Amino acid sequence: MSLPVLIDCDTGIDDAIALTYLAARADVSISGIVSTAGNVDLPTVHRNNLALSELLGIDAPVCRGADQPLVQPLMTADDTHGASGLGDAVLPPTTRTEDPRAGAQLWVDTARAHPGEVVGLVLGPHTNLALALEIEPELPRLLRRLHIMGGAINHRGNTGATSEWNIAVDPEAAQRVLAAFTDAPTRPVMGALEATETVRFTQETLDRLIALAADTGHPVATILVDALRFYFAFHEADGFGWSAHVHDPLVAAHAVTGDFAATRSLAVDVELAGTLTRGQTVGDELGRWGRQPNLELLTDVRPEDFIEHLLGVLEQGLSA
Ligand code: BDR
Ligand code: CA
Repeated sequence: MSLPVLIDCDTGIDDAIALTYLAARADVSISGIVSTAGNVDLPTVHRNNLALSELLGIDAPVCRGADQPLVQPLMTADDTHGASGLGDAVLPPTTRTEDPRAGAQLWVDTARAHPGEVVGLVLGPHTNLALALEIEPELPRLLRRLHIMGGAINHRGNTGATSEWNIAVDPEAAQRVLAAFTDAPTRPVMGALEATETVRFTQETLDRLIALAADTGHPVATILVDALRFYFAFHEADGFGWSAHVHDPLVAAHAVTGDFAATRSLAVDVELAGTLTRGQTVGDELGRWGRQPNLELLTDVRPEDFIEHLLGVLEQGLSA
C-alpha cells in the first residue's frame, strides 16, 4: 500500500527537490499537484510543475491554483529562485497538459474521494488550501493529516525580520488554515525555519548530485544541479557562504516517514496586523492565550541523516 500525498507548491528550487524525492519513493503515490503563486508567478510555477511531472513520470493531475494571495498583492522571490523558479536550469518543452480544475477544487475532490487517507503537503503559500476550506470546511477531518513548510518560531525570519516566506506571501491564508485545523483529529505538522535551516547543502552535497547527473543522464538530476548552483550563489550573497538551506524536502520526508525530526506541540497563530511583524508566526510558549496547542512543530532535526537519506532516495529513484 502506498501513501497518497497531495502536494501544493510554488516550484521553486527546494520544491523541485521535494517533488523529485516523493516521485522517487515507491511507497508514495502522488495524488495531485497544485501550483500556487509564490517563489515565482503562477504561470511559471505551473510550467515547472507540468514539466517536472512529465520528466519524473508523475501520473497525477496538475492543477493551476491561485495567482494572487487572498488579500495582499503577490510578491515573488526571483532573487532566491531565479526568474524561472529553477535558477539556471533549462527545462525542456513539456507536452503534459494541466487538469482543468482549480487547485482548490483538487484539494476538495481528492480528500472527498479518499476520506481519511490523503496526506496534504503545503510547500508554498497557503492560498489554495484556504480557498479549498471555503468550498469544503470538513477538509481537516477528510485529510489523513496536514504537513506544512512555513513559519519561524523564536527564530529570525527569512523574508521580513520575523516572517518566513510561505507565510509572508499570504498571511491571511495561513491564519485561516491554522484556525480551520484547530479541531482536526490530528494536529498539522509544521516545519518552520528553525527546523528546516538545519538542512544545509554544501559543495559535497552538490558533488553527489553532479555525479548522479553524470552517471544516470537523468534530466532532472541536471536540472537540480543547475538550480542548486543558483541557490548557493543566492545564499552566499545573503551571507550564508557557498551552501543552501533546503527547506521543503525535510518536511516532505518527515510527512512520509515520520523520521529525521521529533515534534513538540505548541499553540501558534499568525500576526496579521503588526507594522513590523506582519506574517510572523507567534508561538505561545507559556500558555498565555489559554488555547490548546494547534500544531506539532518539527524539532531536533538530524540533518546529516536526512541529507544522506535524501541523496540515497534520489540516487536510487533517478537511476531506475
Ligand atoms: C520556503 O520559501 C520558499 O522560498 C522555499 O521554497 C520554502 O518553501 C522557505 O522559507
Ligand atoms: Ca516552497
